[in-house]
Amino acid sequence: MKTLKVQVSEDRVHVQLNRPDARNAIDDVMVAELHAMCVDLEQDPRILILSGSSAPDRAVFAAGADIGRLVERTRDDALRGINSQLFTRIAGLPMPVIAAMDGYALGGGAELAFAADFRIATPRTTIGNPETGLGILAAAGATWRLVELVGEPIAKELLLAGRVLDAAEALALHLVTELHEPDQLIDAANSLADRIARLDPLATRLTKKVIHAPRGAHPFIDELAQSVLFEAPAKQDRMRAFLDKKKGA
Ligand code: COA
Repeated sequence: MKTLKVQVSEDRVHVQLNRPDARNAIDDVMVAELHAMCVDLEQDPRILILSGSSAPDRAVFAAGADIGRLVERTRDDALRGINSQLFTRIAGLPMPVIAAMDGYALGGGAELAFAADFRIATPRTTIGNPETGLGILAAAGATWRLVELVGEPIAKELLLAGRVLDAAEALALHLVTELHEPDQLIDAANSLADRIARLDPLATRLTKKVIHAPRGAHPFIDELAQSVLFEAPAKQDRMRAFLDKKKGA
C-alpha cells in the first residue's frame, strides 16, 4: 500500500491514512487502496479502526479530498461519486468501524469519519466542512450523515456557515463519544474494539445492518434478523453459559 499503513489481527484491522506531508488528503490512490481494504473486510469481516498519520509538527486525521486532483475533476467525475461511493461502502462494512481522529478532520476527512460507527478523538481535533469556500458542496455524506448525527441546525452551521467544531464541542454534541490524549488514542480505539470483539460477531453484524435499514423495513427486518440469531449456535452457547453460571453460584 502506498497511502495506507495497515495492521491486521484476527478480529480487527487498523488502517492508518499515510500521506502526512499532504495532511492525509484523499487522492485516487488512497481511494483505490481503501476499496481494496473493503474487499478484504467484506470477505473476512473484522472491526476496522481508521486513523491518520500526523506530520511531526501537525496532527491530522485527514484534510479532505486532494484539492490538487479535485481542481481537475469534471461533471462526470462528480457523477461517479468517487468519495461518496467509497464512504458508503465503508459505512456498510459488516463489522463496526471506529474513526480515531487526532487533529484536522476536514472536508472529505470529516465525511469519512461521519461514515464510521464510532468517532473518538483527541482534544486537539477539529471537524469542519469548508467545501463551499472552495466553490463545491460536501457531497460525500455530510449533507445527510452529519444532519442525522448532530441535527440540522448544527449541520447547517458547518455546511453553510463554515463553523469548525473543536473537540469539546464535538463531544458535547455526541459527534465524538470519547476524548483521549494523542498518545492514548489508538489504545482507546483498541479498547473499544476489544469491547465489540467480546460480543457475538454475527449478532453485532446483524444489529448494524438492522440499525441502518430504512424505517419502513422495521420491525420486520428486526424480527427476521432475530430469527436467524435464534437458530445460531452462539445464542445457545452464550445463554446456557449465563444460566449455568447462575446455577453454580
Ligand atoms: N488537498 C491537497 N493537498 C493538501 C490538502 C488537501 N485537502 N490539505 C493540505 N494539503 C497539502 C498542502 O497543499 C501542503 O502541500 P505542500 O507542502 O506541497 O505545499 C501540505 O499539505 C501541508 O499543508 P499546509 O496547508 O501547509 O499545512 P497546515 O498544517 O498549515 O494546515 C490544514 C493544515 C489542514 C488546515 C490546511 O492544509 C488546509 O486547510 N487544507 C485544506 C482543507 C480543505 O479545504 N479540505 C476540504 C477539501 S474538499
